[in-house]
Amino acid sequence: MSLTDFRLGEHRIDPPLLLAPMAGITDLPFRKICKRFGVGLMVTEMIASRAIEQKRERTRRMAVVDADEHPVSIQIAGSDPKYMVEAAQWAKAHGADSVDINMGCPVKKIVKQVAGSAMLRDERLVASILEAVVKGIDLPVTLKVRTGWDESSKNVENIARIAEQSGVQMLTVHGRTRAQMFNGHANWEDIGRAKSVVSIPVVGNGDIVDAASALEMVRISGCDGVMVGRAVQGNPWVLGEVSAALTGKPAPSRPTDKERWAIVKEHMLLLAEHHGEYSAIRLARKHVIWYSKGMRGSAEFRGHFQHIEDWQEQIKAAESYFLSPKESVSLAA
Ligand SMILES: Cc1cc2nc3c(=O)[nH]c(=O)nc-3n(C[C@H](O)[C@H](O)[C@H](O)COP(=O)(O)O)c2cc1C
Repeated sequence: MSLTDFRLGEHRIDPPLLLAPMAGITDLPFRKICKRFGVGLMVTEMIASRAIEQKRERTRRMAVVDADEHPVSIQIAGSDPKYMVEAAQWAKAHGADSVDINMGCPVKKIVKQVAGSAMLRDERLVASILEAVVKGIDLPVTLKVRTGWDESSKNVENIARIAEQSGVQMLTVHGRTRAQMFNGHANWEDIGRAKSVVSIPVVGNGDIVDAASALEMVRISGCDGVMVGRAVQGNPWVLGEVSAALTGKPAPSRPTDKERWAIVKEHMLLLAEHHGEYSAIRLARKHVIWYSKGMRGSAEFRGHFQHIEDWQEQIKAAESYFLSPKESVSLAA
């Protein structure tokens, strides 16, 4: 099976594969690494419209996009149409090719402000935000949702219709309700239900872990493209495998130890360049440990690596582990 890419405004989404927005993870360094494996559309971390109002440096850094990563969508969240329009205009000024509105976030802090997935319970508010943002910028506006608030109030078909009627140009559906948080399985049939009531592209999301699961989601839901999130952590190569499967190409080979280390090192250097060494040390703990998952002696490496407080030390420890996993473990032990 192979999918044809689709269009979003002036851009072809080729391949029809999106990197999922993940707060604290899909920053510029991570997106740069992912881009080379074949992502058709990047989505930044969610940026709260309130944070944009406060003009914080950290917020500005979240919206830095790279010349080589286009097309890129900046994701915004919030529940006040006026601030959402301003946030969308701000995203455009920061180089976004499209603006994605988050109505899927299940996190309590966001839900309490009636944003993220809480908005799914108020279809009128959904319409007023979408209409205002579509009117307020001359960029494609896209929407990311869950399938509803809980099992008894799934309304993804209504939300899909509202999105299309409001002028939204692409809908991403994570096949879980808010109540499910990240538990259980994403329901790919529900993604298909949304797809069946609209003619805008529908992107399926939730629990894709490899090429086979991506193809299975497409088969079950009939979605126009797929979005992959957690499976990419420490494993950006999976994007190349999914991309090849979606476009009917042969699967790329898995990286050698040397190639893996080259990516890890580049990722670490990009983290330092973008965030400064202090934050990079903390962020590298998360990413580097993910890269080591499934390798020989990774538990021991993790125990050692997460306590290193010095940037050069971190690089040295990672190099000795990734270039010869077994030996470095015996050194660390
Ligand atoms: C750590 C983390 C942060 C996330 N942050 C966001 C976010 O900022 N915006 C958003 O729309 N979804 C966010 N999500 C949800 C993902 O985009 C995606 O919908 C979800 O992880 C399911 O896809 P997956 O099974 O491929 O991971 C986040 C998920 C995780 C695990």
